[in-house]
Amino acid sequence: MQIIRTAAEMQEISAHWQPTIKVGFIPTMGYLHAGHLSLISRAKEECDVVIVSIFVNPAQFGANEDLGNYPRDLDRDLSLMGPLNVDYVFFPTGEMMYPAGYKTWIEVKGISDILCGASRPGHFIGVATVVLKLVNIVRPTLMYMGEKDYQQVAVLETMLRDLNVPTTIVRCPIVREEDGLAMSSRNKYLDSDQRVQALCLANAIRLAQKQFLAGNHDPQSLIELMSDLIIGENGSIDYIRFVDPIDLADVQSIKSDTRIILAVYIGKTRLIDNSAVLA
Ligand code: PAF
Repeated sequence: MQIIRTAAEMQEISAHWQPTIKVGFIPTMGYLHAGHLSLISRAKEECDVVIVSIFVNPAQFGANEDLGNYPRDLDRDLSLMGPLNVDYVFFPTGEMMYPAGYKTWIEVKGISDILCGASRPGHFIGVATVVLKLVNIVRPTLMYMGEKDYQQVAVLETMLRDLNVPTTIVRCPIVREEDGLAMSSRNKYLDSDQRVQALCLANAIRLAQKQFLAGNHDPQSLIELMSDLIIGENGSIDYIRFVDPIDLADVQSIKSDTRIILAVYIGKTRLIDNSAVLA
């Protein structure tokens, strides 16, 4: 496993990828968990070379968000990746990614402005910009991304398509703790009571899935039932929506491929989750 600390060095390596080799890339903000490791393992099975980037991207955090506290531990990340035989870890600095005078931002209109984008203005501009930069530096064939960040994947697929970038996203299923909580680096912020309360996201999804199977296809009534469950666990709802799986627009009547998608605050920690209605 080689650690690459500069974009120039990474580009020098990626410039020599032959068109016949499959290059797999997993962009991360570090503090890796089993979800990230599952993306890396899949990339190792399917690709000839695997690169993981670790970069806590300041551009995707709002002024009142957790950039300063975001968990960082490179030694821990490297030891978790050790057994997986990652080929390169790209670990750039903020100054390197956004040097003085930096001026270019990528905006994927529409799909970036709803759901998490409505609550976190500018967030997806930061995500799209850093991911396009990383893709330009790494030049991957395949980019492995978890569906926990469902909207992020949709935004980035749109960007890659619109800008003719020859990288394909491999969507990978959400990895959950045994009790159903979706894995996230932000779960680290939860104290033991909040860790129990956080189950309300997965439980609310399950409730909606059961109701759908019992014949309730009305988004509004399911949102009310899910809200009651979440509020009963002291969760504070940012949004709960039933959306089209491709353009993420609200649906009027729920079908089996409709996506349930939600964001909930447990204390100060904002958690997200989603699932197809018929999983
Ligand atoms: O999902 C994440 O960890 C980040 O949004 C990403 C894709 C690494 C961009 O900073």
